[in-house]
Order: sequence, then structure tokens, then C-alpha cells
Amino acid sequence: MTLLPALVLPLPDAEATARLGQTLAPMLQPGDVLLLEGPIGAGKTHFARALIQTRQDAAGVPREDVPSPSFTLVQTYVAGETDIWHADLFRLSLPHEADELGLTDAFDTAICLVEWPERLGPDAPASALHLRFAYAGEGRSATLAAQGTRWAPVLDALGQAFARGAG
Ligand SMILES: Nc1ncnc2c1ncn2[C@@H]1O[C@H](COP(=O)(O)OP(=O)(O)OP(=O)(O)O)[C@@H](O)[C@H]1O
Ligand SMILES: [Mg+2]
Repeated sequence: MTLLPALVLPLPDAEATARLGQTLAPMLQPGDVLLLEGPIGAGKTHFARALIQTRQDAAGVPREDVPSPSFTLVQTYVAGETDIWHADLFRLSLPHEADELGLTDAFDTAICLVEWPERLGPDAPASALHLRFAYAGEGRSATLAAQGTRWAPVLDALGQAFARGAG
């Protein structure tokens, strides 16, 4: 698997994690899948919440609370023409359960944000953007990488936005 050269972004505080979600939000389109990797407490839900609420603001629909989907496994949000699915697969025991949740169909039509994507096994879409959150001192870092051509301009734009101080 050939991955793009990874983009590594320092996220010194929770606000920086939110800014990453806010900056990425307008760059997404239907069929985009973001695989949110990293340990417990690394900021996956915090990132997803900022991204979802930013798209709801842009679509002119009321902002919703975005709780961690760790018990429901999946939460769906209406945000303009493209629904957003937010999944936390930590409690998934078998990859085919993701199919039963409707998540694998949503990969094609919605914008999907998936925490604990390792549980998908081979059902993880090859075209997804990988965001690996890690602890870095008192803050975090995010390493973004992907295969194929879809994500190269997005990573360029994000890198430039953060170099300008969006991070
Ligand atoms: N860059 C950061 N620096 C410091 N704290 C952060 C940063 N990003 C997020 N946090 C904080 O980390 C805490 C845990 O975040 P969050 O719930 O998003 O983790 P998670 O990766 O979703 O964990 P889980 O695997 O349990 O779902 C939150 O209190 C959040 O504000
Ligand atoms: Mg979480």
C-alpha cells in the first residue's frame, strides 16, 4: 500500500484539535471516510465534534450535541445534503457488525468519521484518510496519511493552513 507522505500536525491543546476538525470540515465530500486512530483519550471524539458542528453551521442547521458514540456505536447527523456518520467501534466484536449497522453502505454516500477503525478489519475502505492521534507531552499530535489521489490536495491545503497559524 503506497501512502502519501504523511502530514504531521502538532496539537498543543484541545483547541488545536478542534481547529483541525474545523479546517478539514469544508474540504469533505460525500463518500469520504476518515479513520480516527489512536489510544483512549487521544482526541478522536473532540476532533469529530468540531468537524460535525462546523458542517452544521455551514449548512445553516442547528448545531447538535455530539456525544461519544461509544455505547450507541453509531450516531448520524444531518448537515445539509450530506449526512455525517460518527462511529466508535471499540465495542464491536466482529467486522460484519459494521455492515449490520449500515456503516459500510454509508461509506459510499455519507461523510463517515470512524473511531477505533481497526475493528473493521478488511472492511476499512482503502480510499480512506487515516488520522492517527497520539499523546505528545501535555498535548497531542495528528499524523495524516492516505492512499491515492483524493487526499493529496487536502493534505496540502491543511499543511498550508496550519503553517499559517490555523493550528
Ligand atoms: N490536543 C489536545 N491537547 C490536550 N487535550 C486534548 C487535545 N485534544 C483533545 N484533548 C482532550 O482529551 C480528552 C479526551 O478526548 P476525546 O474524548 O476526544 O478522546 P477519544 O480519542 O475520543 O477517546 P476514546 O478512545 O475513549 O473515544 C478531552 O478532554 C479533550 O478535550
Ligand atoms: Mg472517542
